[in-house]
Amino acid sequence: MVENKTASLCGKNILGLEYFSQEEIESVLQTAVEMKNIIHRDIKKVPTLRGKAIVNLFYEPSTRTRTSFELAGKYLGADVINITAGSSSIVKGESLRDTLLTIEDMGIDAIVMRHKAEGAAEYAAKIVKPVIINAGDGAHAHPSQGLLNLFTIRQYKGDFKGLKYAILGDISHSRVARSDIWGMRKMGIEVHLAGPRTLIPRFLYKEKGIFIHDHIEDAIKNADVINVLRIQTERQKSGLFPSTREYARIFGLNEQRLSLAKKDVLVMHPGPMNKGWEISPQIAYSTHSAIQEQVKNGVAVRMALLALVLTGGKHDEIIA
Ligand code: CP
Repeated sequence: MVENKTASLCGKNILGLEYFSQEEIESVLQTAVEMKNIIHRDIKKVPTLRGKAIVNLFYEPSTRTRTSFELAGKYLGADVINITAGSSSIVKGESLRDTLLTIEDMGIDAIVMRHKAEGAAEYAAKIVKPVIINAGDGAHAHPSQGLLNLFTIRQYKGDFKGLKYAILGDISHSRVARSDIWGMRKMGIEVHLAGPRTLIPRFLYKEKGIFIHDHIEDAIKNADVINVLRIQTERQKSGLFPSTREYARIFGLNEQRLSLAKKDVLVMHPGPMNKGWEISPQIAYSTHSAIQEQVKNGVAVRMALLALVLTGGKHDEIIA
């Protein structure tokens, strides 16, 4: 049943949602529903990826993405190995190319990779044969986050049709924002961006279905979903906004601003949060918040991605 829809993802490098068709996104979302059922079982283990080996190669810190890819691989029966920059030969000066070739020589099937450089995952895909899954490359893309955001929206809203989706904050340095924009637009969702002008890239100003607002209130007004981005101090140069206090005052999501959105508005954040800067703690833990659900859904969506790229769409025969 799922085979035809998923066939195109077999062996595909997952580099960014700009390279996904609507049908491919749909196949991940549908497969993730099946995967979420497995996570809810008493014994969370199926043999879908038995005999497959996956390396998580992380050059940047991560809690959610690395752990959920590891769990995803293990729940599907794969062997999963973690390599972090600080505990490998990368600290001895080994190049990315040599690290990739070394991993390939060990017979690995997929490499889940996070790196600070934009294009690092695409480079890896040109160097080695294992499937490359981009777990974040600089400010470029974080496709599995974009997919789990879509999955979470559908879980709460049922349908994507007619939704107003607001992304608030540091758009320029956010791979989440880019993946969201590509993913949401492919699924027909209207995207509204607001943040300091210094943090919104100019190339987005003329994109169809994307609206840029100077005042955060205009983006929030009647929004169905709000995704609040983390202020990425580690990627920013100084002087892009006066201070975090000033940022919180003008651009932070607080209860007064949230009241402008639809009554059943969903608030998302990719994490980790700077509570009190871009989002108030009251909202982060309110009934509007889907932030914890995003984390849960991250495992199911990453299980779907791994199953689809590594089994040729035959995963449904081996899940049961
Ligand atoms: N959302 C996200 O990428 O979080 P981590 O950095 O913890 O993986």
